Amino acid sequence: MTFDTAYAERTVATKALYERAKLTIPGGAGSTARLPRNGWKPYPIFMAEGQGSRIRDVDGNEYIDYLLGLGPMILGHRHPGVTKAVTDAVSEYGTCFGLPYELEIEAAEKVVAAVPSLEQVRFTNSGSEAVGTAVRLARATTGRRLIVRFEGHYHGWQDTVYWSNHVDPKLAGPSNRPRPVAMGGGVPAELESTLVVLTWNDPESFVALMEERGHEIAAVLTEPAVFNTGCILPEPGYLELLREQTTKYGAMLIFDEVITGFRFARGGAQEWFGVNPDLTTFAKGIGGGFPVAAVGGTTEAMRLIADGTYSHSGTYNANVIQCAAVSATMDVLAEPGLYERQRALGDRLARGLKSIADDKGIDAYVEGLGTVFQLWFTDRPIRNWRDAAAYAHEEVFTRWYEEMVVRGVLFHPLQFENLFVSLVHTDADIDQTLNAAEDALSVVAREL
Ligand SMILES: Cc1ncc(COP(=O)(O)O)c(C=O)c1O
Repeated sequence: MTFDTAYAERTVATKALYERAKLTIPGGAGSTARLPRNGWKPYPIFMAEGQGSRIRDVDGNEYIDYLLGLGPMILGHRHPGVTKAVTDAVSEYGTCFGLPYELEIEAAEKVVAAVPSLEQVRFTNSGSEAVGTAVRLARATTGRRLIVRFEGHYHGWQDTVYWSNHVDPKLAGPSNRPRPVAMGGGVPAELESTLVVLTWNDPESFVALMEERGHEIAAVLTEPAVFNTGCILPEPGYLELLREQTTKYGAMLIFDEVITGFRFARGGAQEWFGVNPDLTTFAKGIGGGFPVAAVGGTTEAMRLIADGTYSHSGTYNANVIQCAAVSATMDVLAEPGLYERQRALGDRLARGLKSIADDKGIDAYVEGLGTVFQLWFTDRPIRNWRDAAAYAHEEVFTRWYEEMVVRGVLFHPLQFENLFVSLVHTDADIDQTLNAAEDALSVVAREL
């Protein structure tokens, strides 16, 4: 049976909801990332409920969930402790005061205690907001306007940073000195002059830029490990180089830990790699699935927010739902041995998938850190966006996704995303996934 036929048979109720949704919701879904043009072909699956590591669609199909809401469901769906903390807090206090309160301090104290570079933190509503705040704060603090960012990284949808994510290399110039390319209509072209875009994991072009323009640079903004072009880890010494050069030229280093934060180590990528930024942004993960984000840093880096001369505002900042969710999530994440156990589980899955692909003669490799990784279909290592655009076989990935989703394993249909393993996935989930992969990759191998 073809994928299209199998999908249509499994998704009768989904299809009806999709047709209904399109009438009142543009594209039929609440985010561009959920539309067919972003991989969810022929239409996105409509979900009914999630519990732990499993999610069920409106047709009653159950999936082992490695999409995890695109990352936030770090504790799986409906974690009992966090769900209770939030519902209790809402019943006891309300949702929003427009004034500070004690639970906010408790949540901030726990986040600061968990993340190495943090001395202070402000809560906000989305990763895009947190990044927007960090970037403007860096400009205000340094009195400079240039922001350095890297091709293939994603930092949210704000005008200042919505550039050169998955850019066509033909439009972006040479890899040692790319030109910024806006990622969609409506982004003011004038902002191009406020950005320098570089190729990641390329020390030479970074050092050359710093020598030439280091004193003009307000901040270097990076995912400390890239999870928006599949998974690409920093090469040894690269993050240290970013730290050393930004310090040397008086620029701020911003780690966008929206994906990496709390995911494979409680203190995020900065704990894992042992490099401390000036400012850090968080979102997915920090609230165990509830909508909350944060921007934090050293007391010095947060100085202008503290004295009120930089306006970090937001009606819903640090509302009760957010602070209850953060506080309870931090408690769950403090369980001794949790990360070690789940990284080992994720590694078993990643290694298992690679070994199945090898057995079947499919060119593939895995890159990741246990609780988040990608299976790249390629015959060579991917070090940055240019490599990914040139050498990753998206059509093979699509067939792998299709054969897995109809076998009850859900992850993002695009190779430039990831598989997320929550802190509640079990050995049974991994066994079932590897069994499904055995069959799915057999089909893929026959077609190649
Ligand atoms: C690294 C990174 N930064 C920022 C964002 C934007 O976060 P949000 O979608 O919460 O606005 C994302 C979202 O995927 C992300 O992966």
